[in-house]
Amino acid sequence: MNDNYYKTKKSVEEYIKLAKDVHGEELIEKLSHFLPSNSLLLEIGSGPGTDFQILKKEYRVVGSDYSTEFLNRLIRNNAKDEFLNLDAITLRTQRKFDGIFSNKVLQHLTDEELRRSILRQVDLLNDSGVICHSFWKGKGEELFKGLLVNYQTDESLRDLFGRNFEILLLEEYTEFEDGDSLILIGKKK
Ligand SMILES: C[S@@+](CC[C@H](N)C(=O)[O-])C[C@H]1O[C@@H](n2cnc3c(N)ncnc32)[C@H](O)[C@@H]1O
Repeated sequence: MNDNYYKTKKSVEEYIKLAKDVHGEELIEKLSHFLPSNSLLLEIGSGPGTDFQILKKEYRVVGSDYSTEFLNRLIRNNAKDEFLNLDAITLRTQRKFDGIFSNKVLQHLTDEELRRSILRQVDLLNDSGVICHSFWKGKGEELFKGLLVNYQTDESLRDLFGRNFEILLLEEYTEFEDGDSLILIGKKK
């Protein structure tokens, strides 16, 4: 897989334009029912920082991304905030968090990589920590602009997360087309 799309200046600028109206406000509202205000939250794949700005209203947020192109922009635009250079698969940090959030990031991982990520998320979370992740709903995988899109279903997500997380909410929602997405909120077992 060619994952340069999120890593070069030109394609990052293209992505920021394409995604300018996309945000996870609805997801963050759902998360607020399970994760108390002011909790310490890690965002995986903060990208342009749209969800980061919304999360900040409710939580103490640490942003992260694996793309230095995005990270440099995030740091430039949010001088008072903290950002980590993290790959979602390995999540190499010693820090602990009350919650972990991502919006349309983990579809770029194969199921095997997602299993590794889930085990690291367990390590990074405090007791009863809460995760909130969104996915594209469907079966199989495809490439979009050279990036892997690994679709998930209700069943596949229960299978992947159920061993380590109590599923608090697993719902379909609409990003672009009716019911094209899934949100999963879970609590560390
Ligand atoms: C669809 S964007 C997320 C947008 C973000 N939710 C927002 O509010 O703007 C996906 C982001 O995930 C990041 N990403 C993709 N694969 C990743 C990985 N393996 N580890 C960390 N970040 C990753 C990309 O660099 C990009 O910033």
